[in-house]
Amino acid sequence: MNRQRVYKLIVFASGNGSNFEAIVRHIRDENLPLKVTYLLTDNPEAYALERAERLGIPSEILDYKSFDNRDEYNRALLKFLKSLDFDLIVLAGYMRILPPFIVREFWRKIINIHPSLLPAFPGLHAIEKAYKYGVKVTGVTVHYVDEGVDTGPIIMQECVKIEDDDTLETLEEKIHKVEHEIYIKAIKKVLLEN
Ligand code: GAR
Repeated sequence: MNRQRVYKLIVFASGNGSNFEAIVRHIRDENLPLKVTYLLTDNPEAYALERAERLGIPSEILDYKSFDNRDEYNRALLKFLKSLDFDLIVLAGYMRILPPFIVREFWRKIINIHPSLLPAFPGLHAIEKAYKYGVKVTGVTVHYVDEGVDTGPIIMQECVKIEDDDTLETLEEKIHKVEHEIYIKAIKKVLLEN
């Protein structure tokens, strides 16, 4: 009997974790040959940890504040990742920049979601920046991670229109709704459609 290969994902999240949960739900609802084997967080207070527990996904906390400096944290992160077997690292609201030695070690095996149409509005608070700038169209980008900040090759993008009556809150809702659908599509494209 031919057993289908199951691709293993590690999701990184620093806070809420709604994208993490959406990925897990899509995998389960669509019965995809994908498995989130770990939720990794740098923040012991992350709500994503509660989601992981509810969803029955193992989690690993690497408490950033417990390390002397960024380099020590990243060395511990590399050690943890090297101890695992996985196909893709999925950054989903992970609010730290991966150092070049991790990006190079897992070249083209790390993807990120960003709440704007890159290269517009990279970095933090992208939804707010787009809203305040007054653009009429913004959106969501999924891209490979390279050594820059939100600069790697784009895998998928989707537009979100900003209507005159949108508030920052309604725009955030629209962006998150798109994120929760596009990320799994991009993961399928990377792992299942080659
Ligand atoms: C998402 O909007 C994601 O695009 C953004 O953080 C949010 C996390 O939400 N990421 C970035 O801004 C990365 N530069 P979530 O924790 O509910 O998934």
